[in-house]
Amino acid sequence: MTEARVRIAFDQVSVRFSTPKGAMHVVDDVTYDIRDREFVSVIGPSGCGKTTMMNIVAGFMRPTTGSVTLDGRPIVAPGPDRGVIFQEYGVFPWLTVKQNIAFGLTLRANRVDAAEREEICRRYMQLMGLSEFADAWPRMLSGGMRQRLALARAYAVKPQFLLMDEPFGALDAQTRSAMQDLLLDVLAAEGKTVMLITHSVEEAVYLSRRIVVMTARPTRIREIIDVPFPYPRRPDLHESPAFGELRAHVRQLVMQEYAQQAKQHQPQPS
Ligand SMILES: Nc1ncnc2c1ncn2[C@@H]1O[C@H](COP(=O)(O)OP(=O)(O)O)[C@@H](O)[C@H]1O
Ligand SMILES: [Mg+2]
Repeated sequence: MTEARVRIAFDQVSVRFSTPKGAMHVVDDVTYDIRDREFVSVIGPSGCGKTTMMNIVAGFMRPTTGSVTLDGRPIVAPGPDRGVIFQEYGVFPWLTVKQNIAFGLTLRANRVDAAEREEICRRYMQLMGLSEFADAWPRMLSGGMRQRLALARAYAVKPQFLLMDEPFGALDAQTRSAMQDLLLDVLAAEGKTVMLITHSVEEAVYLSRRIVVMTARPTRIREIIDVPFPYPRRPDLHESPAFGELRAHVRQLVMQEYAQQAKQHQPQPS
């Protein structure tokens, strides 16, 4: 089998922010690729620079040096090819549940006719357990429901790329696990390329083809881990010894980086 083509490429990416306290070096010389239909998770300590890297892929900002390309072209703006699911709820408070899901389908890039729009809304409201809330306003929903609505909105337009920033963090354990399996189903049906930021080692190992473990800030690549389990993945994978071994390895790397970060943030002796 030939290797799938590279879709997203980080090439020697560094990011520095200017802050009132001076320049802050956040991302340090990051190089890796995400291939077609690959599921890549990015994991690392809080505040290391994960969201910053995703913002570059989404087209919201540019690296200070280096480049991020999509199909070989530098990313300069957001586009309908990339569905972004933010850490905070990405829903419009002035639209109802159903109108939120339908929103992207009325934009030129993803326009579908009214009957199809209706069918897509119905399907995702059902999958996300929101059918009874079609005409409700987001403020009437719980946090977890709002997050499911954000997922439905992103999936509804069938983007080629899903950029997901801790999308399941606000969900209870049962819903989280159901949403992980639903994501795998959507990917199996539609063959997307995914970049997922997560704090959960369990989630990263369960979902990903590769895991990029990042160091404390300025963040570099600590290790890129191949996850050898074939798709489709089923929940009993969590129980397998090989899964447990890989989880332990990734967990150890992540813990070391959290420890490193805690050390850096201790007051310096004068
Ligand atoms: N626009 C900005 N200006 C200045 N500092 C920023 C900006 N965006 C993020 N940062 C800082 O960069 C660091 C990394 O942020 P972020 O990428 O959100 O981390 P993570 O997603 O890994 O938790 C944080 O210390 C954050 O405060
Ligand atoms: Mg973040």
